[in-house]
Amino acid sequence: MIELQHIWVEREGRTILTDVDFEVGRGEFVYLVGPSGAGKSTILKLVLFEERPNRGVVFVGEYDSEHLQESTVAHVRRQVGMVFQDYRLLRDRTAFENVAFAMEVTGVKRSVVKRRTLSLLSTVDLIHKRDMYPAALSGGEQQRVAIARALANEPFVLLADEPTANLDPETTEEVMGIFSEVNARGTAVIMATHDAALVARHPRRMLLLEEGRTKEAGSVADVDYLLRSG
Ligand SMILES: Nc1ncnc2c1ncn2[C@@H]1O[C@H](COP(=O)(O)OP(=O)(O)OP(=O)(O)O)[C@@H](O)[C@H]1O
Ligand SMILES: [Mg+2]
Repeated sequence: MIELQHIWVEREGRTILTDVDFEVGRGEFVYLVGPSGAGKSTILKLVLFEERPNRGVVFVGEYDSEHLQESTVAHVRRQVGMVFQDYRLLRDRTAFENVAFAMEVTGVKRSVVKRRTLSLLSTVDLIHKRDMYPAALSGGEQQRVAIARALANEPFVLLADEPTANLDPETTEEVMGIFSEVNARGTAVIMATHDAALVARHPRRMLLLEEGRTKEAGSVADVDYLLRSG
């Protein structure tokens, strides 16, 4: 469903990724683990076709980085939900409008947009704050709006870039609960993190990113070692 084949990425003369090679199947949950600067965000951007590799191929559903036209990228992105570390909410729109907007741009009927937005806000437990603007929401609440928005168009995969980095322990657990629920309903999740304790509390498949390469981790101990040494 998603496959990165022997990915090599260079930016401004520097080599960032040398051999990223992995596959994520339908409905899987996988952590992408590595120290700061390892290239986690770069990999998520490749899956979103926000960037293209210098060598290797990225396959997402029926699309691949060698043949995908720039004009089709927006269409693909609607099938891939992305939660950015810095939320990226529209500041002049309420929580409701932020989520609804993602559907409106795809031409979904107004009545459907309303019903589905309310259902998503209820999933992330924010119905009571639907008319508030991002500035009036806490970091964790903004993060939950961003998650609801990422799920708006029923993506087959949810990408999350260190979604818990700025959250307190309690909100972190809430967000992990939402991801588990979304995953249990069939959406694949790829979550970048450098939080070894979190991975230990919620064990799942782990892909380690080290020196530009990915490899499967056998145990949480591998992750812990990598993050400490990083
Ligand atoms: N456009 C660019 N030009 C030059 N270097 C870049 C560019 N984009 C990323 N890099 C470099 O690539 C490396 C990987 O960056 P990336 O943001 O993917 O790391 P990361 O694993 O997400 O780190 P963090 O945990 O801090 O978010 C970094 O050293 C970064 O400086
Ligand atoms: Mg990053």
